[in-house]
Amino acid sequence: MVNIAVIGTGRIGAHHVRALSQDVRGAQVVAVVDPARDRAEAMADEFHVPHALGEIDDALQLDDVDAVVIATPVPTHLPLIEAAAAHGKHTFTEKPIGGDVEEARRAAAAAESAGIVFQVGFNRRFAESWSRAHDLVTAGAVGTIHRVHSVTRDPGPFTGEPSRISPGTVFQETLIHDFDTIGWFLGDARPMTVYAAADALVAPEAKDSGFLDSAVVTIRYDNGAIATAEASFSASYGYDLRGEVFGSSGMVQMGELPNSAARLFTTDGMHATTDGIDTVRFHDAYVAEFESFIRAIEGDHPNGHRPVGADGVAAQVLAEAAIRSHAQQRVVEVEEVLR
Ligand SMILES: NC(=O)c1ccc[n+]([C@@H]2O[C@H](COP(=O)([O-])OP(=O)(O)OC[C@H]3O[C@@H](n4cnc5c(N)ncnc54)[C@H](O)[C@@H]3O)[C@@H](O)[C@H]2O)c1
Repeated sequence: MVNIAVIGTGRIGAHHVRALSQDVRGAQVVAVVDPARDRAEAMADEFHVPHALGEIDDALQLDDVDAVVIATPVPTHLPLIEAAAAHGKHTFTEKPIGGDVEEARRAAAAAESAGIVFQVGFNRRFAESWSRAHDLVTAGAVGTIHRVHSVTRDPGPFTGEPSRISPGTVFQETLIHDFDTIGWFLGDARPMTVYAAADALVAPEAKDSGFLDSAVVTIRYDNGAIATAEASFSASYGYDLRGEVFGSSGMVQMGELPNSAARLFTTDGMHATTDGIDTVRFHDAYVAEFESFIRAIEGDHPNGHRPVGADGVAAQVLAEAAIRSHAQQRVVEVEEVLR
């Protein structure tokens, strides 16, 4: 049994406490940590977690903590990863692994030198159709890859407060999943240039503050492949996560817009339901990513889907190039970001 402290019990942390407590084989949550103590205590009560704590240091002192799961806001990721690594605790962190490329590199390096199992929360790799598509693509089923396209449209209406969302969020927290899976499909190919077009189309009243809620990013790779990733904070019709890999001998599609195979046919036509949010639609993928983390701690061979520190850095490089491309309204050479 791997004993886990979950750090951060907000929207996704609360989901992760539930998933780890109820659905992940071999995992047990022994501590929940949040400076919002009432939130931590409520989670502890609900899931019979012995310790509800206010900061990570209190959890790292506990003898029975083997691993941490970090689900806190982005600026805290690097210091929390460094703290966990310094105590030799295996670490799963939500994306991105740092606030910029420099921080991401430091986070990956801290995990590497501590020799811990380190995994990044790129759960989309573990969603059934993405996982299957990756197996097919790596087996050569679509031939030489020409195009990868990836879509992340969050379910509307958008209810966020633009002034509390940093302009880089659409790239660093939303499209970072797409950047990761695009790189994963393209294997050893290296991204060369990035161009991002982004705007506040969902909340145009926030445009002057620099808020961004919609983006399309084009990435050219050194093997000739052209990738596009697009995001919106508000799809009026529901949760829309899809992708495709198109190659010289075929195409594979991932993701399903309807959330049920049931179709209603009436005089108005055909109807399918498309609602849901990540914690519902991708619950199985979150469980699978945690099972991969637990199996790695137990010493099992990685299955090739497990995103590690280098993957966290690679996705962050594309996010930073996209941020720069949007800010400077030009094509950015990936080399510029790597310097
Ligand atoms: N992989 C995914 O699909 C997915 C989905 C949603 C969010 N996320 C990521 O998860 C992270 C958290 O997002 P969220 O929507 O749950 O945020 P949130 O604001 O709902 O929750 C964050 C929680 O962390 C707590 N916190 C802040 N600083 C802390 C610290 N130092 N130690 C412990 N707790 C601390 C806050 O009090 C809050 O309860 C972000 O990085 C986000 O990008 C990933």
